[in-house]
Order: sequence, then structure tokens, then C-alpha cells
Amino acid sequence: MTKDSDEIKVFVTRDIPGGGIDLLRDAGFDVSVWPGDRPMEPEELINAGRNSNAMLTLLTDLIDKNFLVECRHLDIISQYAVGYDNIDISEATKLGIPVGYAPGAMSDATADVAFGLMIAVSRKMFYMHKTISRGEWTFFKPKANLGIELKNKVLGIVGLGRIGLQMAIRCKGAYNMEIIYHNRKVNTEAEKIVNARLVSFDELLNSSDVLSVHCALNEQTKGMFNRTIFSRMKPTSIFINTARGAIHNEQDLIDALNRGIIWGAGLDVTNPEPMAATNPLLSMPNVAILPHIGSATIEARSEMSRLAALNIVEFYQRGKIPNLVNPEALSVHK
Ligand code: DGY
Repeated sequence: MTKDSDEIKVFVTRDIPGGGIDLLRDAGFDVSVWPGDRPMEPEELINAGRNSNAMLTLLTDLIDKNFLVECRHLDIISQYAVGYDNIDISEATKLGIPVGYAPGAMSDATADVAFGLMIAVSRKMFYMHKTISRGEWTFFKPKANLGIELKNKVLGIVGLGRIGLQMAIRCKGAYNMEIIYHNRKVNTEAEKIVNARLVSFDELLNSSDVLSVHCALNEQTKGMFNRTIFSRMKPTSIFINTARGAIHNEQDLIDALNRGIIWGAGLDVTNPEPMAATNPLLSMPNVAILPHIGSATIEARSEMSRLAALNIVEFYQRGKIPNLVNPEALSVHK
């Protein structure tokens, strides 16, 4: 690289926890951090991008074609997340902008949320909690509030990668669940560790007692769980989504639950986010909703911060990006 470190301007789009910002400053870069408590508006992002060499972005930043064309001079964008559906990767690649990300950092944290939601739904925990605050706890009712048990049931995973594997390990260890999955590629590690079995999408739908979504949001998975797909699931099944809200159609999910097409749902991601306080899902007994907190642990957020910053440091110091989404971008002549 021809620039001195202190000439390299790195813009971080939110004040992130962990040591990532220090890592960038210790490398000698000229680092600015958006001081606001809200995500940046598209115009604010473009203005920041125009004056920077590198950007560390969040999943709430719209890095679309417009941004990328305006900021085509950027040397690198590094995302503080495992998902990067907010970034137009094919445009970034075309313009020769490498995009880094932070995989692995939140696998345990997100799997904990998926596992917790599964149990919460199976025993109607969120709803039962609310009945107490409403003063509705009266006396023991032998036939009321019955949930379902998870022991020896079938867990189906869509997109069995790092997070899905951690979910499978928890389900196998706690409940001896049988693990089936639907992926583009075989996950040999998961097959060894939890005896997971690759099945067709059709088999996944009609055999899963719990169906947990762990795939990326892209053109193929957008709206994937809709009326037709829910109708092919078991009426006793639980749908869990901790990946991205746009993977399920929310109105179709509401209808499927109301009509007993599926039994329950646990979501850490909704469509849109934030979910409206009046959303009918929030008052259904067999539903548990969380406000996208999958990676919200001290450990996960610190590691995300470190990995996202490291992509930028290593790029300028060694010409390598440890976690790179689009290697093809490096061979584009800018
Ligand atoms: C991710 O990493 O993609 C998470 O959704 C952000 O917390």
C-alpha cells in the first residue's frame, strides 16, 4: 500500500463494543465513529463514505448500488455481522470493493437463542408469563396450558452451517433429537458430530417436529416460508427463525398459526424490524418473539468487533482479508 497508516481514514458506522475500534486506532489509522444512537440514513452513509478509505458497517446500513457507485473509491468494507444481505455484493464485486465479514463469532449466542425460543414455544412460556402480569393466575387447571415435549423429536434445519450445528448439538445433547437438514452442500462435520442426515426440502417439511431456519437471506430464500410451505409442515410442528425475518412471510405465518396448520413459532427476527407492538403474533399462546438479540452477548459482540476490524487491519498491513465474502473483487482493476 502506498499510503501511510495515519492517512487511511476508517469510518465505523456505529459505536460498537469490544476492542475493534481500538484495534483500528492501534494500527495507526485515522478512525471516525458515527456518534449517533440510531442507524445512519443513506445520505449520511454516502457522505461518510465519500471521505473515507475503508468502512466498518452494520447490518442496518444500506450499502446498495447507489452507495457503492458513489463510494467506488473505497478500499474495503468490513461488516460487523455474519449476514451481509444489506450489502449489494455483486455490485461491490463489479466495482472491485472487497467485503469482509465476521463469521463464527455469534454461533453459540445465536444457537442459544434458537434453542431457548424452541423451549419457550413448546411450553408457551412467554404467553404464560404475560398471564401472571395480567392477574390471570387463578388455580391449578389439569387440562389447561398444555405444551409439548421435545425428547426424541425431529429437528429439521434449513441451512446447516456454524449456527445450525450449534443448535443441533444443543438439541441432540438435551433431548436426543434426530437431526435432519436441507443444504446446498453436505455438512460432513455435522453428520459426524450429531449424526445429521441431509434430506430433500420436502422430507424436511413433512418430518420436522421443530424446523429451525439458519440460512442466509438471498434471492432464493426470500419469502421461502410462505402459505404453501407452511401447509406442507406438520400441524404439531414449531417454526423457529433466528436468521432473517424476510425468509418467512409474516402474514402467512400468522394465518398458519391461527388455522392450526403449524403448532407454534419462535422468532428472533421479524419482517419488518422493529415489529409493531400490535402484531397479532405477540398475543398468541404458542409464540415467542425476541427483538433480534441473537448475537447480543458480551462475548459474541466483542468477537464480531475484533473480526470486523481485523479484516481492515490485515488488508492494509498484509494485503489479506481473513474473512472475505467476494475474493473476485480483488482482481478487479479499479
Ligand atoms: C448477524 O451477524 O448477521 C446478526 O444477525 C447480527 O447480530
